[in-house]
Amino acid sequence: MTDLVQVACAELRAAPVRPLVQGGQKQVHVVSLSDGTESVLKLIDLGMATDPSAFERARREVGLLKSIQHPNVVAVRSDLQQIGDPPVAVYWLEEFLEGSDLRFSGSRWPEQHLHTLGADVAAGLSALHAKGVIHRDLSPGNVQRLTSGKFVVMDPGFAKHTLRSGLTVGGQPGTPGYMTPEHLQSFSGSPTAASDVFACCALVYLAATGQSPIPYKGDENEYLQRLRTAQHSPLHDVRPDLSDALVSVVERGLHPQPARRYRNGSVLQRAFEAA
Ligand SMILES: Nc1ncnc2c1ncn2[C@@H]1O[C@H](COP(=O)(O)OP(=O)(O)O)[C@@H](O)[C@H]1O
Ligand SMILES: [Mg+2]
Repeated sequence: MTDLVQVACAELRAAPVRPLVQGGQKQVHVVSLSDGTESVLKLIDLGMATDPSAFERARREVGLLKSIQHPNVVAVRSDLQQIGDPPVAVYWLEEFLEGSDLRFSGSRWPEQHLHTLGADVAAGLSALHAKGVIHRDLSPGNVQRLTSGKFVVMDPGFAKHTLRSGLTVGGQPGTPGYMTPEHLQSFSGSPTAASDVFACCALVYLAATGQSPIPYKGDENEYLQRLRTAQHSPLHDVRPDLSDALVSVVERGLHPQPARRYRNGSVLQRAFEAA
């Protein structure tokens, strides 16, 4: 545990329970509050931030998250707090989502679980989109599968300060393997709600097959080439056992042209529920 986490815990009168993510610019700890409940402490060490506006961005985004109460979006439990003046770190509390993120959840899920994943993530996105927020980094590490089977979207709008080693194609942050054609410099326009739709369908594809539809294999140029046209193995070829209805929702969401996909999270949610 770093000194900064110790300072934050002292200010919160909380006891650290265990780290979830350590090192780097963001630190994530489970902490126990004085009322006995567990919560998640997130701390950004501004001294390690690559983004000079990390502080302002964090403040805006924590404020925004606080205004969203939705079962499929992580709940923020405090305002943004700063350590030091001028600040050396910022931190906030979130609800503890017991479960594991999609990086660790296996592959070739049964059809019913794929429906739930798609509908839950799309529902979370619909709450963000209703506030005009684009997630931009809907990747496996940013969706938690709860022990109850429900899925919750995390890290919304935080893409810019969570970027560590990813590609910065066209200045757009994102996670290689989970970016959209709109992340590319050559694309006119920046990520929109339809970009989050693409990423949601990429996560359903991952859970179905064990691989992103457009996996990053280590060669940047080659990846960008495939990303430009959203070129991928048709889901039906990899999972012929899945229903045509589900496959066609995922494939439409993965269309290279945003205008040909579902418009936003709420339209995508209805499509998954109807499939
Ligand atoms: N509220 C939470 N409850 C439980 N686990 C969490 C929570 N927030 C984050 N995590 C875990 O910590 C990881 C990193 O958190 P995240 O906010 O995505 O930080 P990063 O900036 O490193 O992407 C997530 O992938 C997830 O495994
Ligand atoms: Mg993350």
